[in-house]
Amino acid sequence: RARVAVVISGEGSNMAALLYASRLPDTATEIVLVASNNPDAAGLALAEAEGVPTWSLSHKGLTREAFDDALDDALTAARPDAVALAGYMRLLTPAFVARWRGRLLNIHPSLLPKYRGLDTYARALDAGDSHAGCTVHLVTEDVDAGEILGQVAVAIRPGDTPDTLAARVRLAEHQLYPATLAAYVSRFQDAAWIEARLDELASPLPEVS
Ligand code: GAR
Repeated sequence: RARVAVVISGEGSNMAALLYASRLPDTATEIVLVASNNPDAAGLALAEAEGVPTWSLSHKGLTREAFDDALDDALTAARPDAVALAGYMRLLTPAFVARWRGRLLNIHPSLLPKYRGLDTYARALDAGDSHAGCTVHLVTEDVDAGEILGQVAVAIRPGDTPDTLAARVRLAEHQLYPATLAAYVSRFQDAAWIEARLDELASPLPEVS
């Protein structure tokens, strides 16, 4: 199974979805670490209760480089094949992104390329869109702009507020992320796929047994 580290900042409901999906029979993934920049993140306590190794370090008072270096060390020690950002609310340094390229995924609460960044629900409502949604994508230096791996559209209902919409998008996220992650890491066993993407994958190449 592919070793996956999950990086969170808050509630961690997507992390929980990834974790419980990894415990279904015949899954492609194993959660080997939950890491956070917020030692009080609720998701850390859940991971601990479920017996998953955790790591946290407050980013406060650290430069972005110093924090990302510490996160990188913690991830490297866990030897993940893929790293899943799940409600990680900080920008990453270009060096960190390069270090994990091709193996670093994120979930974003909009139908990218629409509404990169924050306040995606209010922006979709203000625009009068018929649908909001969520996207799993590869992380590149440009925020929320990497290759799209999967999306689910969520209908906007009359009377929706950012909060009511967010709650339904979250349900869709919990389906999308585990399925998309599993499909992506399964490609790590495909020698031809890896060969075709050598320039887009961080070294050492993922090894999945
Ligand atoms: C999720 O909706 C995720 O898409 C979003 O934060 C929420 C985290 O919830 N991520 C971003 O906005 C990233 N820019 P969770 O902690 O319960 O998984």
